[in-house]
Amino acid sequence: MSSSWLVCLLALLVGVVALTQGLPLLEDLDEKSVPGGRIVGGYVTDIAQVPYQISLRYKGITTPENPYRHRCGGSIFNETTIVTAAHCIIGTVASQFKVVAGSNWRTGSDGVITNVKQIVMHEEYFSGAAYNNDIAILFVDPPLPLNNFTIKAIKLASEPPLEGTVSKISGWGTTSSAGSASNQLLAVDVPIVSNELCDQDYEDFGDETYRITSAMLCAGKRGVGGADACQGDSGGPLVVRDELHGVVSWGNKCALPNYPGVYANVAYLRPWIDAVLAGL
Ligand SMILES: *[C@@H]1O[C@H](CO)[C@@H](O)[C@H](O)[C@H]1NC(C)=O
Ligand SMILES: *[C@@H]1O[C@H](CO)[C@@H](O)[C@H](O)[C@H]1NC(C)=O
Repeated sequence: MSSSWLVCLLALLVGVVALTQGLPLLEDLDEKSVPGGRIVGGYVTDIAQVPYQISLRYKGITTPENPYRHRCGGSIFNETTIVTAAHCIIGTVASQFKVVAGSNWRTGSDGVITNVKQIVMHEEYFSGAAYNNDIAILFVDPPLPLNNFTIKAIKLASEPPLEGTVSKISGWGTTSSAGSASNQLLAVDVPIVSNELCDQDYEDFGDETYRITSAMLCAGKRGVGGADACQGDSGGPLVVRDELHGVVSWGNKCALPNYPGVYANVAYLRPWIDAVLAGL
């Protein structure tokens, strides 16, 4: 067996371990083939319904010959600014990414493609708890041509959503923890779960670093399951009444009845976001 095969095999193994653990919810951890697909329990949507959604495409530094591949979702704050998850960009540089807006597809060159010029990750990502402060801001150039139809900015929430409120999540992630591939943008509607209940749900999960902090937000059909974000949806939007409330972050596998999906809490993280946007 040649050494490149060995590297592939190892990469695949790492991928399988990452998938079975279900953490975090990003795709293509190292550019090998994690099964692609979509949100769990969702419905086909159109980018015009979620025009703030972008596909963050990535390629490895050591594989410049490869195409940029879908890795995560993100949300448009304005023509030059994207909100995504810290775990989508940690350990990368800006030139490894393209942002694709206004497309229904996870692959191909449909839509508007722009470059990432600068990445700002939350300095306290993972501090105090696993996946704490899982947020990052990307600055893109050239600016996105907002047409308010298929490419549109979304307002950031400043108050947390009420428990039970139905939110909409969208993305090109897998349809189950090891789901089959689909190229089309999907969405699913999931109710907000209080942090208190969510923390109880995760009490027996992982070690004590897996806690639900104030910088997180949970959503899911508690006791029912079947509707959730999954691998490849990371960094993407959780929206309530036209405001961005959550950024897809992590979970125990996907769509389990007793483990809601966990999101970065935009309202709670606003002071950090606002400081970055103000160039501080
Ligand atoms: C889109 O909306 C923004 C903000 O309301 C506005 O400034 C811009 O002119 C609109 N663009 C188009 C193409 O309608
Ligand atoms: C977009 O947001 C960034 C960060 O707040 C800001 O610097 C820039 O001026 C904004 N662009 C427009 C066109 O408002």
